[in-house]
Amino acid sequence: MQAASATAPGKIILFGEHAVVYGQPAIAVPLTTMQVTVVAEPVSDGEGLVITAPDVNRTVRLSMFDTNDPLYNALGLPVRLVLERFGIPEPPLRLTVRSTIPIASGLGSGAALATALIRAIGLALECPLANDDINTLVFEVEKRHHGTPSGIDNTVIVYEQPVYYVRGQPLETLNVSRPFTVLVADSGQESPTHVAVGDVRRLYASDRATIGAIFARIGNIATVARTAIETGAIESLGPLMNENHTLLSRLTVSSTALDRLCSAARDAGAYGAKLSGGGRGGNIIALVDETSATRVADALHRVGALRVVRTVIG
Ligand code: PMV
Repeated sequence: MQAASATAPGKIILFGEHAVVYGQPAIAVPLTTMQVTVVAEPVSDGEGLVITAPDVNRTVRLSMFDTNDPLYNALGLPVRLVLERFGIPEPPLRLTVRSTIPIASGLGSGAALATALIRAIGLALECPLANDDINTLVFEVEKRHHGTPSGIDNTVIVYEQPVYYVRGQPLETLNVSRPFTVLVADSGQESPTHVAVGDVRRLYASDRATIGAIFARIGNIATVARTAIETGAIESLGPLMNENHTLLSRLTVSSTALDRLCSAARDAGAYGAKLSGGGRGGNIIALVDETSATRVADALHRVGALRVVRTVIG
């Protein structure tokens, strides 16, 4: 056993959230300005495996971790699954977890935590896991987080590449031919993804024709956006983002705060804006250029954004 550390980024979904659960394509990119870091250090034999999360002021021994604890799925489950994968009991390791990704805000904090934990344990045990293996394990964790995940979060976070993702299909990475700038603005409202996903499922069951058509149009937008990203037609992404946001509102996953942030971004000169992730709260993304970025960020702050992060994609 050796000391080791591992990181994993956050993610943003550019197009296609929710519809991706029903087999439509979606586009997501890693968000490297935010990340989870896990440091693994061997400890003396009797100590077992201890997880320390200074951000939330918790230290817990794996063998004492109550599966009903609200933090169990985020911190305990990924560790248990990777130890099962190796077929070994609890090794004497201290795992220190730090994250700059806000939780329940559509930026993939759960998948990033699981990825960094699993990767760090593999390295500490001197059996580094391949990304395909890590992806399978993180997907298992995601299933416990929100029941019917599409798999997009774990895929983009584990491989750390822009992806064009279709559930159940082999990984397709995306070539960003011309880098573009996105602002990620936090509404400050936490919103668990599984609630929004469950509500969309009920909505679909109540009117399959109408909701199915919305999913199909969102999938179509993701396909058109892929070509625009790969050919550098960045400005054309703006209207596609706006339409995608409108369709997400019809799926009931926007909110007054998210609508307000999107409108403020557009009014201040963004090419387009939409919610990103599960919705109902969490973050919006706005497509900007160098001249509008500061103005749009100021406008977002004025209408209540808790935090605005600027990120260049590609
Ligand atoms: O809220 P997040 O970051 O977990 O993103 C969820 C994306 C959904 O499409 C709503 C669900 C899924 O599993 O793809």
